[in-house]
Amino acid sequence: MILILLGAPGAGKGTQAERLVKSRSIPQLSTGDMLRAAIASGSSLGKKVKAIMDRGDLVSDAVIEEIVTARIAEPDCEKGFILDGAVRTVIQAEMIDRALAKAKRAIDAVILLEVDEPALQRRLANRVNEAQAAKRTVRPDDNPETFKKRQEVYRAQTAPLIPYYESQEKLKRVNGMGTVLEVATAVDAALDGAREKKAPKKPRQSEAKS
Ligand code: AP5
Ligand code: MG
Repeated sequence: MILILLGAPGAGKGTQAERLVKSRSIPQLSTGDMLRAAIASGSSLGKKVKAIMDRGDLVSDAVIEEIVTARIAEPDCEKGFILDGAVRTVIQAEMIDRALAKAKRAIDAVILLEVDEPALQRRLANRVNEAQAAKRTVRPDDNPETFKKRQEVYRAQTAPLIPYYESQEKLKRVNGMGTVLEVATAVDAALDGAREKKAPKKPRQSEAKS
């Protein structure tokens, strides 16, 4: 299964992706995590993207194309994968569609986690507090000013993916406002619906019309 998790910064993409990795046995591809790893390693890619990420802007589509196409060609992605925040512009969506089509593959479903802005702000504040309490490094883009910018960038550059995937009939809207478990249950229900739509189950004899 090839899945995309879509949603505003802080909507819970990473949280739900981690759970899906276990339940569906497919890897999570978070471009945010890959880029932060590049920064931590001091690579030339990391040097190129650090300032962009720190101010809450999007890294160029060309950089994303390079890292995503290389990653999805790895053997552990053969069974499927979860694109967690890895598709953020229509250009990136078209690029992924092309790369998958070349390999005779396609996205199965796009889960949109819908969370309102006050809840997103509370989640950011919690994440910062938890990191500080545990003496972990706070993400440089997890501050109110940059978070506001990330939300603006989401609305301007990523939200156009909603009609893009709606027109492909792949978009599943999920209420992301519940607890982690409630959202997980809603994600599973949306995915199982997506699977049934793709391969409708044969009715059992007793259900079939005579
Ligand atoms: P990225 O790392 O992808 O960050 P993001 O999408 O901006 O947002 P987060 O990772 O903060 O949120 P999330 O939705 O994963 O939520 P989480 O599960 O962590 O990207 C960072 C930057 O990298 C971008 O700004 C850009 O510069 C660059 N970048 C990355 N990909 C790119 C691309 N494709 N193109 C261009 N640039 C790219 O949850 C948030 C918090 O809420 C956590 O503390 C969690 O514990 C909590 N939480 C989760 N679910 C719930 C719940 N149901 N109830 C209460 N709390 C919850
Ligand atoms: Mg994330």
